[in-house]
Amino acid sequence: MTEPTEPIKYRKNGLTRGVTEELAESMRHGWADTERRDLEPTAQAAYTGPRRATLSAAFPGELLVVPSGTPKVRANDTDYPFRASSDYAYLTGDQSQDAVLVLEPTGESGHRAVLYLRGRSDVENGEFWLDTHGELWDGRRDSLTESERLLGLPCRDVRTVHGDLGAATGPVRVLRGYDAGVEEALRERSDAERDAEFEVFLSGLRLVKDEWEIAELRFACAATARGFEDVVRVLGTDTETPERLIEGTFFVRARLEGNDVGYSTIAAAGPHATTLHWVRNTGQARPGDLLLLDAGVETNHLYTADVTRTLPVSGRFTDIQRKVYDAVYAAQEAGIAAVRPGADFRDFHHAAQRELAEHLTSWGLFGDLTADKVYELGLHRRFTLAGTGHMLGLDVHDCAHSRAEEHVDGQLLPGMVLTVEPGIYFQENDLTVPEEYRGIGVRIEDDILVTADGNENLSADLPRRSDEVEAWLAGLRG
Ligand code: GLY
Ligand code: MN
Ligand code: MN
Repeated sequence: MTEPTEPIKYRKNGLTRGVTEELAESMRHGWADTERRDLEPTAQAAYTGPRRATLSAAFPGELLVVPSGTPKVRANDTDYPFRASSDYAYLTGDQSQDAVLVLEPTGESGHRAVLYLRGRSDVENGEFWLDTHGELWDGRRDSLTESERLLGLPCRDVRTVHGDLGAATGPVRVLRGYDAGVEEALRERSDAERDAEFEVFLSGLRLVKDEWEIAELRFACAATARGFEDVVRVLGTDTETPERLIEGTFFVRARLEGNDVGYSTIAAAGPHATTLHWVRNTGQARPGDLLLLDAGVETNHLYTADVTRTLPVSGRFTDIQRKVYDAVYAAQEAGIAAVRPGADFRDFHHAAQRELAEHLTSWGLFGDLTADKVYELGLHRRFTLAGTGHMLGLDVHDCAHSRAEEHVDGQLLPGMVLTVEPGIYFQENDLTVPEEYRGIGVRIEDDILVTADGNENLSADLPRRSDEVEAWLAGLRG
């Protein structure tokens, strides 16, 4: 093990004129001992050990390195809010920035997990109030001993990690893209191809959720439903409602009940709903419009919901809006019905898209072509645009780097969670459809858990059928 060497990084402030000996001496004294000696392991700690054991078994004899990541500059000396890498959070239950999980190989098989963290700031050398990472500025951190108790694994000072990694020998794999300093310390010994395999394995490790994760996703969906209700309460029936007010209203719920939103909220009114990722939210929701709200609360442990409802702002769908909405609802029902253990992952997508193609064809949008031909040629995709869903968990598009054979080309297993989110999007300037369709966009998105014998809709608190949506809106508005 190496000794911490990092010098104090002084905060810049043109107003102060250095530190007198007297002030430095004063700051060294008079602070109560706040160490907590009665801590128990967190509820998640019982799950992170088995997760690390699975990882360990896949890479015997190799040093495995998973950084949490470093802050990203937003402007000058302000950073974006930090969010730990999903793989690090999954394997440790921790969310610290600049931290590194290292699995050190022990003999022929097995690993010893060590967590490198920034513990308490040094009071003796003034770090706690003078350094950019000083606790007086950023808030109290857990001591390394406290972290060991809470997380259930040995912790070391992160300032030693580059030295320790540099001194280690043997094969190594590192999760790239999160910590340039760690990658530099391992540059001579790591290999891009082997590290890419490591990333793929880590991503696949999260495909099947354990019971603790499912409880998190359940809570994320419940809090998200409350956020949608908050939005309905601010949505005017006969006045304009800014999309930014809708976004902000949902954000308040996300911060009250969770860590953040799991992705940028899409608050898309009227024709904005035809833009799949409308996150500018610069428009207004007007009576007569549909509002497509795609939003998810991310829990304090970083699991996110991903839910979409398309709501008539006035409280009632017009005939043409209802026609499009009901077709999307039928497609979602078909998609959800195809989610069960043993089904091909792609089945739900085909079931939903097939249903959409039938409806679009029956509306005469493809001339004399049959629905079969439309589907075969993929012509419906002009209006359906996106895939019907994706895995969900710590990342909104979860397990995106996992092997095709165990994910998109594989079969569903109990414990997997995925979104089912068909949509129809008629662009405002699409001259190939009758005018009455133009500018209508509808998506309905739910978060579906694969159970032992079928599925469970985790976001079922929010109504989906058009008449139930109307009754729900009326009930909330009194
Ligand atoms: N909100 C992003 C998605 O639905 O995939
Ligand atoms: Mn989604
Ligand atoms: Mn979504």
